[in-house]
Amino acid sequence: MRNQPIGVMDSGVGGLTVVSEIWRQLPREEILFYGDSARCPYGDRPAAEIAEFTFRALDFLVEQRVKMLVIACNTATAVCLDWARERYDIPVLGVIAPGARAAIAATTNQRVGIIGTHATISSNSYPRALHLTHRGIATVPVACPRFVSIVEQGLTASAEVLPVVADSLREFSDANIDTLILGCTHYPLLASAIGQVMGPSVTLINSAEETARDISFVLADQQMTRTHMTEPNHVFLTSGDAGAFADIGARWLGRAIAVSRHDVWECGECFDAAGG
Ligand code: DGL
Repeated sequence: MRNQPIGVMDSGVGGLTVVSEIWRQLPREEILFYGDSARCPYGDRPAAEIAEFTFRALDFLVEQRVKMLVIACNTATAVCLDWARERYDIPVLGVIAPGARAAIAATTNQRVGIIGTHATISSNSYPRALHLTHRGIATVPVACPRFVSIVEQGLTASAEVLPVVADSLREFSDANIDTLILGCTHYPLLASAIGQVMGPSVTLINSAEETARDISFVLADQQMTRTHMTEPNHVFLTSGDAGAFADIGARWLGRAIAVSRHDVWECGECFDAAGG
């Protein structure tokens, strides 16, 4: 089991921000990634639908015998993490607790902004996670529903990004926060524009780094670290356009990735890791 891949899922390309940190911190681990771009964004959907899509993807990864599940999506973590931990007998990690932890470590004035999808913000998951550890943190949550489609369309470098980001973040202009949680795994791809708008006095929190640290800890603790000496064979699947996914992936990860189209709703059982 310890030489099986880590299963990582997101509604789309956002989970690649977590993959990049897994590669940096755990370069020998193998990844089976599923990005449900055909149904992205999840963040504007009702919780029942988010759960339906997420569990279909997670069931698929478990059928492929992954050794661990990483829900590299804040929206799916907010809605499904507790249920997923009951449903599967392998470790299941989300991205919200690690992001909250990193924010507590970073803030000095105890005023933390949170941006995420409608579903993540309305779930109140971040304030809950922050207050579980530190009751004195003041939170300023803001939904930024326009960001995900910019990232999925590969438009992060386009001229229209900065005005959209500035408009979406205007609530923070007099909020006096010193830390901003990027509470959607798609948002680190917009970090440069977000940083420009927020200014240098605000620390941006990308939960990927802390999530990879959690993965590392759980693998070591449960003696699940990969021992095979062969190079890891990563597999990237998307229910959307494989070419567009590969382009965004190569830009973000800094190296080319092979991406195959696979939609768990069209054929849940027919994936063959060797043949794609
Ligand atoms: N990347 C996802 C997240 O972290 C969500 C994007 C979406 O599908 O709305 O919340």
